[in-house]
Amino acid sequence: MSGWRRARALLWTLVGLAAVGAVALATGIIPREPAIADAAPGISSIGGPFRLTTHKGEVLSDTDLRGRPHLIFFGFTHCPEVCPTTLSELTLRYEALGAAADALTTLLITVDPERDTLEILADYIGAFDPRFIALRGTREETEAVAKAFKAFVQKVPLPSGGYTVDHNAIVYMMNRNGRFVGSLDPHEQEEIQLAKLRRLIGGKGPVS
Ligand code: NI
Repeated sequence: MSGWRRARALLWTLVGLAAVGAVALATGIIPREPAIADAAPGISSIGGPFRLTTHKGEVLSDTDLRGRPHLIFFGFTHCPEVCPTTLSELTLRYEALGAAADALTTLLITVDPERDTLEILADYIGAFDPRFIALRGTREETEAVAKAFKAFVQKVPLPSGGYTVDHNAIVYMMNRNGRFVGSLDPHEQEEIQLAKLRRLIGGKGPVS
């Protein structure tokens, strides 16, 4: 890369990081102080109605999840690192939680519906905990749900051809009423994540 191109690439990286940081701060994804479930403004504006198709070909909407705490993660099967790492860690958390995790629904919403067919999603999600569900919508539905969750999603062309999709690595924790109550963040210690998940499943108080 030439000096100019390197500088420009660095600039775009900084602009991107600043934008994600600003959105995360504004929406409470990076909490300035401990989040209070169902109370804090900003936090409660994360999430919204959706109607997508599962990797088994069934329709699933947000209202179907009423009464069940759930985790939502935006990703895609071509993701080289973040998605497989996050889903592998969630699989380990499910193992640690054991039967208690039966009360929890974990959803991967693809941000790459063009390449992620239901068949590909079924194959991919099958490598992780069998209770996980992959969801797919049209491009318009995908953009609408990502916007509702204030998720950072950006298609980026690769120099070698094709493209990748940059996205945030947050796992959204939604309570049994479909309200956003906190997030699991990458690099967080296992015990902290397990404590948050137990509180989410138990439905008692703030989780983050
Ligand atoms: Ni990813």
